[in-house]
Amino acid sequence: MSLKEDSENMELAECTKNPGFQDSDGGVSVEQPAEQRLSTVVRLDSEYKQLEPFAGMPKEVLLLYSSQARYRIPREVLFWLTLSCALALVAVTATVIALSPRCLQWWQVSPVYQVYPRSFKDSDGDGVGDLKGIQEQIHHFQYLNIKSVWISPFYRSPMKDFGYDVEDFRDIDPRFGTMKDFDELLAKMHSNGLKLIMDFIPNHTSDRHRWFNLSRTRDPHYEDYYVWTDCNATSQRPNNWVSVFGNSSWTYDEVREQCYLHQFLKEQPDLNFRNLHVRKEIIDILVFWLKKGVDGFRMDAVKHILEASHLRDEPQVDPDKPPELIINEWDLHHDYTTTQLGLHDLLREWRAEMNVYSREPGRYRFMVTESYDYNEVGKTMMYYGTPLVKESDFPFNFYLLDLPQNSSGSWVQHLVNIWMNNMPQGQWPNWVVGNHDKPRIATSVGQGYVRVINMLLLTLPGTPTTYYGEEIGMENINITDSQANVNPVLDPQRAPMQWSGDVNAGFNNKTNITWLPVHPDYKSINVEVQKRDERSVLAQYRFLNTLRQAELALSRGWFCYIHADENVFSFLREFDGLRKAFLVVLNFGKEAAITDLSSVSELPEKLEVLMSTMQASDGRVFHKSGIVTEEGEGLLIQYSTHTRFNPSHPGACYISEKACYLEVVDILYTC
Ligand code: GLC
Ligand code: MG
Repeated sequence: MSLKEDSENMELAECTKNPGFQDSDGGVSVEQPAEQRLSTVVRLDSEYKQLEPFAGMPKEVLLLYSSQARYRIPREVLFWLTLSCALALVAVTATVIALSPRCLQWWQVSPVYQVYPRSFKDSDGDGVGDLKGIQEQIHHFQYLNIKSVWISPFYRSPMKDFGYDVEDFRDIDPRFGTMKDFDELLAKMHSNGLKLIMDFIPNHTSDRHRWFNLSRTRDPHYEDYYVWTDCNATSQRPNNWVSVFGNSSWTYDEVREQCYLHQFLKEQPDLNFRNLHVRKEIIDILVFWLKKGVDGFRMDAVKHILEASHLRDEPQVDPDKPPELIINEWDLHHDYTTTQLGLHDLLREWRAEMNVYSREPGRYRFMVTESYDYNEVGKTMMYYGTPLVKESDFPFNFYLLDLPQNSSGSWVQHLVNIWMNNMPQGQWPNWVVGNHDKPRIATSVGQGYVRVINMLLLTLPGTPTTYYGEEIGMENINITDSQANVNPVLDPQRAPMQWSGDVNAGFNNKTNITWLPVHPDYKSINVEVQKRDERSVLAQYRFLNTLRQAELALSRGWFCYIHADENVFSFLREFDGLRKAFLVVLNFGKEAAITDLSSVSELPEKLEVLMSTMQASDGRVFHKSGIVTEEGEGLLIQYSTHTRFNPSHPGACYISEKACYLEVVDILYTC
C-alpha cells in the first residue's frame, strides 16, 4: 500500500471513532476498495444530512456539508457583503480625496516680500546692502509673518541697471557678498521656514558677459548668441525699434561692425532665443540655482524674450509723427518686439524643468512672470498657462500700480475687477502696489492712504506683494540732478530701509555712506519706533497679515463686491460652511463717507468693527445703513451669518477653488 493510501485509510479509521459515522452494520471497513468507499460516502450523504459537522472531519465530508444551502447561502452573502464594503470604502476615500480642496501652497499662504538687496541692510558698511545684511534681518520677516521673500538680482554685474545687467549668472556680485554668503542665507532662511525667490533675467546679459565678448569677436559657437544685424555705423538704426528706456534699441559695435539689439540699456544686449544653445544655457542656469535649493524665480521682462526675425519696422501709434521723433516705448505698437510666437513654449520648457525639482513634498518651485500690457490684459493672463500646461503660478498683477491716478472707491474696484474678471477660472490672483520701478505709495497716493492700501492688499483674495518699506509707509526720497546722472533709471523709491532712528536709519552703522541718501523722515518712520506703537502702520500690517493667514474666509474664501462709489470700495469675504465672515469698507476718496448697506439682506443689522486703520473706529458698532469712514480709513468688520451672500449673487462673487463643504452633514474639510 502506498503512503497516500495509508493516510487516507487512517483518516477513515479516525471517522469510525465518531459514533455518528457508524453505520447500522457496525462501521466502515478500512479494507474497502475505493469504489466501494465512494458508494459509502454517497450513502452517507443521503442518510446523514441531519448530522452536525465536527472538528477534524475529512475533506469529502466537509464538502457534503459546505454545499448544503444553509451553509452555502450565508457564506456567499458574507462574501459579497465584504467585497462591496471594501469597494465602497475605496470609492468613499477616492471621492473625499477628489472633493477635498488642496491645501494652499506656500506661495499662496504668505505675501511675497520684495527685498531690494542694495537697500535692505548693509552689514559691512560700504554703503550698499548685502546678503549678510538680509540674513541679519531674517527676524523682520518672521515678525511680519512673511514666509516668501523675493530678492532682486545679486548676480555679478557692472550695475548699469543695478543688477539687471548680469555679467555672470552663476556668481554673486562682490558688493553683495560671496557664494558662501548666499548658501548660508538660503540655509538660514530654510531653517526658519522661509522661502527664497530669486530674480531670473533671461532676456539679456550685461555687455560684459563672456558670451557677448565671444559673440562680438565672432567665436563660431557664440556668434549668434545675440541679435545682430548689419547697420550703418553713423545712423545706427536698422529699423525703428525703440528701447524700453528710450531711443533706438540698436547699438553699433565697432569690433563686429554690426548692430546688436537691446530692448533695455545699450549695456544689456538681448539674447537670441532662436539659437538652441542659448536656450540650453538658460535652462542650465535655472538648474544650477534649483540644485542649490532656491524656491522660485521672478522671471524678468519675459514679453521681450523673442523678437521677429524679419526685423520690420513696428507700426507707429501716431502714423503722422516724423520717424526721427519715434524715440519712446509708447510711440510704437510692439508687434515685433514683444509676445512673439514661441515665447510661451519657452516658459513651458522652464516650468517643466522646475517641475522636475518640485517633486519632493514641500519643495514646490514657484514661478512668477513680469510682463505688463495695461490695455491687453488677455496677453498677461496667458502666463498662467492652460489647465493642462502650466506656466507661471501667476503673472504679476500691476493694475493697482495705477491706483494713484484717481482717488475713488469705484476706481479701485475697477482696477481690482480688471484682474478678477479676466483671470482664467480656478487661477490664483495676486496684487502689487509697489516695486523698485514705481514710486512708493506713500508718495504717489499720499501718506494718508498707506494704511487703507495695506488693508486692501491683505484682505483681497490671492497673494499680495509688498515692496520693502511699504509695511512702515516709507516715502520716495528726492533725487538731486547730480545723483540722477549716476543712474539713468531714476530710483527715489530704492532708498535705504529705515530700521531705526540711529545713524543712517540703522541701514548700516559703520560709516556715514549710503548708496542713496536715507529719507529725512527716518526718525519717525522706522521699524523700531513702529514696533513700539501698537497702532503703527507696521503693527496694522502685521495684524492683518496674521489674521489673513489664520482665517479661512480671508485666505481662500469667496470674494464678493458689495459697494463702490466716489469714496468707498466695499467687499466681503466668506467661506462655505463657516458662519464667520468679513466685510471690508475702504475709503479711498477725498472726504468722509457714510455708506448705506441696508439693501444687503445677508448682512446683520449691527456691524462691529474688528479693526480700523484709524483708532477712533476700533470696536465701534455701526448700523448697516450708516457705516462711517474717514478719508483714507479702512474698516474690517467681522460678523456671523446664517445666510451667505455668494449663492444668491454669483455675478458679484469669485473664488479660486471651492472649499469642500457638505451642508447636510455639516462637514468642512480644512487644511
Ligand atoms: C524689469 C525690472 C527693471 C529692469 C528691467 C530690465 O522691468 O523690473 O528694473 O530694468 O526689467 O531687466
Ligand atoms: Mg529679447
